[in-house]
Amino acid sequence: MKGLILSGGAGTRLRPLTHTRAKQLVPIANKPVLFYGIEDMAAAGITEIAIVVGDTHQEIRDAVGTGERFGVSVTYIHQEAPLGLAHCVLIARDFLGDDCFVMYLGDNMLEQGLAGFVAQFEQQRKQDSRLATDSRALDDSQPSTDCRAGRCRAQILLAPVGNPSSFGVAEIGPDGDVVNLVEKPRDPPSNLALVGVYIFDASIHEAVRAIEPSARGELEITDAIHWLIRTGHRVDHRILEGWWIDTGKKDPLLECNRLVLDTITRQVDGMVDDTSRVEGRVVVAEGVRIVSSTVRGPVVIGAGSRIENTFIGPYTSIGANCVITDSELDHSVVLDGSHVIGINRITDSLIGQHVRVVRSPDHRSAARLLLGDHSQVEWE
Ligand code: G1P
Repeated sequence: MKGLILSGGAGTRLRPLTHTRAKQLVPIANKPVLFYGIEDMAAAGITEIAIVVGDTHQEIRDAVGTGERFGVSVTYIHQEAPLGLAHCVLIARDFLGDDCFVMYLGDNMLEQGLAGFVAQFEQQRKQDSRLATDSRALDDSQPSTDCRAGRCRAQILLAPVGNPSSFGVAEIGPDGDVVNLVEKPRDPPSNLALVGVYIFDASIHEAVRAIEPSARGELEITDAIHWLIRTGHRVDHRILEGWWIDTGKKDPLLECNRLVLDTITRQVDGMVDDTSRVEGRVVVAEGVRIVSSTVRGPVVIGAGSRIENTFIGPYTSIGANCVITDSELDHSVVLDGSHVIGINRITDSLIGQHVRVVRSPDHRSAARLLLGDHSQVEWE
């Protein structure tokens, strides 16, 4: 089993952060979203991974490298333009060969690990081989007309959602097989959305070559899976357990940060002075200095940051080399190298790298702003 992680997207909904960095590298609890996906693949025993990259390829290559530190080998495949998820499969043909593979959207986060999902597919394929009495049913060149008799070709992960029209949507037949799939339907056939995790065997390659671009000009993986079904191939599904978040927007990203921080265990390596309190599940990296402050977990603070005369409340991630003084901050994500000085109080916020949020020294009740394109400020 190989892995294909899609990290080509531009991340327009996270601007201005994504003017300067890949959306897959935005940190959740101080770790890039993409790293969770790679680690999850490694935990499922997948060691050969290709990452499809676009305009932000250099940044992703710099962050992930050869994959050695994750215990995997990473190949990069350059996608010239965001031409769709099925297009990614098309350009990964040489890497994938005839192997089965997991395809994973690089900005998605799942509570459920991949290991179980992969094991279910492999078990199903073994069972299919045992059950096959007619050898032609398992002949790749002869798709069976009876879907149940054929080998399972793909496995998709589905989750019930309140707004199915924003996703690929699946319809399940009475025997549990996927019988219909539609991308972003105006009139959804069910509330079961395609989560960004798929397993395919080599029959998907014919499917991605057979389909046409959709109305949005992309080769949709949803259409390719639908093609498999229409041509007599069997597609299985699983229902997602736990949460699933597309981290491509601010509020879901903060929610994801909250969910991941809920799982951390306390580890204080940095310096905490006698007048400070560090309460509950807090990770304080090496080289951090906490002076005259209260930090109430769950919170993570990255290496080299200085927290002084400040309250940091629950569900906050502070990156490396930040300076937070004379401030109150909670339920927020602050990226590396930013300064927050004299601000009372910041909440529900996502602050990029090397940002300065400081109280003006002259006490005039006016704000002075230098905000990048697509910035957002909510005044009290
Ligand atoms: C893509 C897929 C869609 C799937 C979704 C999951 O949508 O096309 O079928 O439900 O990811 O996040 P996109 O994010 O490209 O709109």
